[in-house]
Amino acid sequence: MKYIYFLFIVMVLLTSCASELTTSASGNSSAESTETLRNIASQKGIYIGSAVADTPLFSKTEPYSNIFVKEFNMMVAENEMKFEYLQTSSNVFYWFIADRMVNVALANNMQIRGHALLWHNQSGWASSVNNPAALSNILSNHIFTVMRRYSNKIAYWDVVNEAIEVNNSMVNSSNFYDHLRKSFWWTNLGSNYVEYAFQLARAADPTAKLFYNDYGIERYNNNPKAFYAYQLVSNLKAKGLIDGVGFQMHIDTNFKPFENGFELNLKRYSDIGVEIQITEMDVRIPVPANSTLYSLQANTYREVLSIALSNSNFTAIVFWGFTDKYSWIPDFFSGFGDALLFNTSYQKKPSYDAVMEVLKNK
Ligand code: G3I
Repeated sequence: MKYIYFLFIVMVLLTSCASELTTSASGNSSAESTETLRNIASQKGIYIGSAVADTPLFSKTEPYSNIFVKEFNMMVAENEMKFEYLQTSSNVFYWFIADRMVNVALANNMQIRGHALLWHNQSGWASSVNNPAALSNILSNHIFTVMRRYSNKIAYWDVVNEAIEVNNSMVNSSNFYDHLRKSFWWTNLGSNYVEYAFQLARAADPTAKLFYNDYGIERYNNNPKAFYAYQLVSNLKAKGLIDGVGFQMHIDTNFKPFENGFELNLKRYSDIGVEIQITEMDVRIPVPANSTLYSLQANTYREVLSIALSNSNFTAIVFWGFTDKYSWIPDFFSGFGDALLFNTSYQKKPSYDAVMEVLKNK
């Protein structure tokens, strides 16, 4: 018996030495070589994703797709699943590009966020329809056709994007109905268009998780838009029509998550059982940037993710791109850029390290 015990101890010692040798011989342990945002986030039960664009994703010369599938486990199409891209004319659908992006995600065991079923932007020909009955049918047909095609492939949908626009002529009204964006959807379908879209989505794919997605709703303090968005979501939650809220998180380094009550904001959603995701994060900084700005940017990423991870209903952080080479910021915010985790040469920035550090230490 003692001889067998002795052999067991020897086996254990040899095995551990072998792994040490592997570590020292290779210079970095197998653990380090698999230390990616995706692997660490998965260990915490969190999705970490990025918006991607079709052209670089299928580029034969750029490291874009390799880095994307290695570092992230959630995908959202930056533009290619918006209304004008999928329904190119009345009841004419174009699937090729969206399908091949979805297939990349599925082939790499990635979750997918569908963005977006109803938005006032990039709605193509539908934005010219000025007929309530016709637009109602168009919306129903779009939601059913798209969601049924991707049922069991796309788990999360931004059903309605950016429907709150604070109406300063109704500043005394604390009813979110008075602060809905006066888009063509509102003009034709009235103040109930948001609920109508969620009713259609719930019927079209009961297995999907339905989100309301918006920007500028992150700060709790002195932020009417955040309050109206919360009202809209809690109203839908009470009717069983919504599952989650998407904080786009298009911010700069002036956003101070701790001072601005971000944690309190998240809590009022988790208190009513609403799932929380950061859906489009980027932290723009003045360009040309410098090490001080990159450090401030990294700290903003660090604080936002640290607070989000402290909320048990938080399930995903998605960046609006991952390399500064492909970001919407420079075209929309003159003088700003460098908003993401990798630079234009696909090298990791301090922001990448900050995100990794929070994921590992939380
Ligand atoms: O596809 C055309 C191309 O054919 C044409 O040559 C080119 C120049 O005119 O334009 C291309 O379309 C552009 C499209 O992005 C694809 O690159 C549009 O002009 C441009 O306006 C569009 O911008 C997108 C923007 O939404 C539209 O509002 C950005 O890429 C996209 O990042 C941005 O994403 C939104 C989210 O969907 C919602 N939250 C805010 C976020 C940032 O605005």
